[in-house]
Amino acid sequence: MKTKIKEAIKILKNGGLVIFPTETVYGLGADATNDLAIEKLYKIKNRPINNPIICHFKNLKDIEINFEFNDIAYELAKKFWPGPLTLILKKKNNSKVSQLVSNKHKLVGCRIPNNTIAQELLNNLDFPIAAPSANISTKLSTTKISQLSSNLKKNVFYLDGGDSYYGLESTVVNIIKNKVNILRLGSITYEKLKQIIPNTIISNEQSNSISPGLEKKHYSPNKPIRINIEKVLEGEALLNFSTNQLKSDKMELNLSLKGDLNEASKNLYNYMHILDNSDCIGIAVAPIPNENLGKTINDRLKRASSNN
Ligand code: TXA
Ligand code: MG
Repeated sequence: MKTKIKEAIKILKNGGLVIFPTETVYGLGADATNDLAIEKLYKIKNRPINNPIICHFKNLKDIEINFEFNDIAYELAKKFWPGPLTLILKKKNNSKVSQLVSNKHKLVGCRIPNNTIAQELLNNLDFPIAAPSANISTKLSTTKISQLSSNLKKNVFYLDGGDSYYGLESTVVNIIKNKVNILRLGSITYEKLKQIIPNTIISNEQSNSISPGLEKKHYSPNKPIRINIEKVLEGEALLNFSTNQLKSDKMELNLSLKGDLNEASKNLYNYMHILDNSDCIGIAVAPIPNENLGKTINDRLKRASSNN
């Protein structure tokens, strides 16, 4: 792994792309200060240029050099970094972060990943890594290398760090005055954020111009998907949760037999990939309790099953 990491560092320094593990999902990384490298990112992902990309930093000091902070941002940073929280921060004028990561806007998503391979990359670079999830735009995120899209696997150097620890993306928040606004639910739950900052809300504008990546159709398998089902149809595979009477004549995977939402989060994308690649006609998903990480899982499933 050491020589692979060295190679990855060299590629990133030369303006190339590298797929690397984070604690949430795999990222597709590039030098966040290099316009040409960022352009490559958008192109290979088939991502619209108006959908901003998160920047990954090695430490708080490097973020402070580039971005403005208020008290709430500090409180969240101290509590959750390194970890799966993305803070939308205002870029300072002297920042070297490319304008392309945020479609020329000053507000940029930032986080410090909590994964040893990601940290080793960052510690050996003098720039932050811009990285969206390592998947083709609107498709399922990747939580294990064997599920990488063949196009990415063929064309991009990758580091295999095993299964992602959380399995769901980071929680994206912006801070408006003293209120925390969750733009995308993620591995840090609404309930946990609310404990730290009681004035926290889940944005109901999840399909808007601030965060176009949060448009409805997202995180999708190729097969049709039905959620909150009461009955599995003939030919459908079943993505089950806990114990119940549901049955499939094709194939069943259980996100967590014991009904544990952490375990279910970890399994979600991998199981969706497996069922999507089976010969089922579609995927039927059992109801998932809408609390804690269940809210994030339901958010992803809702987008995956959306028709637009
Ligand atoms: O866990 C994660 O967040 C992973 C790992 C690799 O860090 N990254 C990830 O990136 O999921 P991506 O690009 O797949 O999703 C980032 C989401 C998008 O929905 C995007 O619209 C939103 O965050 N976002 C990023 N920067 C933003 C900004 N400046 N303003 C508003 N939304 C932003
Ligand atoms: Mg993504």
